[in-house]
Amino acid sequence: MKLAPSILSADFTHLAKALEQCDEGGAHYIHVDVMDNQFVPNLTMGPPVVKSLRRITDKFLDVHMMVIDPEKLVEPFARAGADGITFHVEATDNPQNVINLIKDTGKDVGISLKPNTSIADIEPYLDQVDLVLVMSVEPGFGGQGYIAEATKRIADIKQLLIEQRLQDKVKIEVDGGIKLHNAKEVLDAGADILVAGSEIFKADDPVHVMKSFYTLVDE
Ligand code: DX5
Ligand code: ZN
Repeated sequence: MKLAPSILSADFTHLAKALEQCDEGGAHYIHVDVMDNQFVPNLTMGPPVVKSLRRITDKFLDVHMMVIDPEKLVEPFARAGADGITFHVEATDNPQNVINLIKDTGKDVGISLKPNTSIADIEPYLDQVDLVLVMSVEPGFGGQGYIAEATKRIADIKQLLIEQRLQDKVKIEVDGGIKLHNAKEVLDAGADILVAGSEIFKADDPVHVMKSFYTLVDE
């Protein structure tokens, strides 16, 4: 299991502290939630923030683009220092083009689907991506509740990857409402990477919560 804390739930006046906590907590990824107030009804952060984060961390910057016209933001995020760029299959009429654009930057390619989007919509691209980001909340905000139906969707996508012999190449990342109490269920369904925002950064001791996620797996 790898943990990807979402800094959307961190204190934006102390992002460097949040990253220090991620170091102490042993997090593998930093999940950067990009929202444009078009694809989702919220506006968060863009390439300048990624550029600043890049200066102070070597961790994998996992950029989650919840934006329309993702084509337009691939190059700016790659230049800013993103390591992985994930777009939403619903946000473009040409997912293949977005995949090609991200591949051309040399960054990891992620494709994401909202809770009500058919898995069939991403199936044609599974052999071209590094990561499938399964949304377990309606994208747009941190602090929402886990959508229980996501568990079966994770298992179905895992099954698809196994059938296509892609399970070692393509990771499943799950995003939204992930807590210590439901992480095991999500991992058992086939998740490789867990995104957690409010569970970590709204806690009194974010480092302890991150370490607790990792001990879950050892149990
Ligand atoms: C929602 C974002 C998620 C969210 C996770 O649109 O993509 O990454 O910030 O936050 P929690 O873990 O609080 O649901
Ligand atoms: Zn996210």
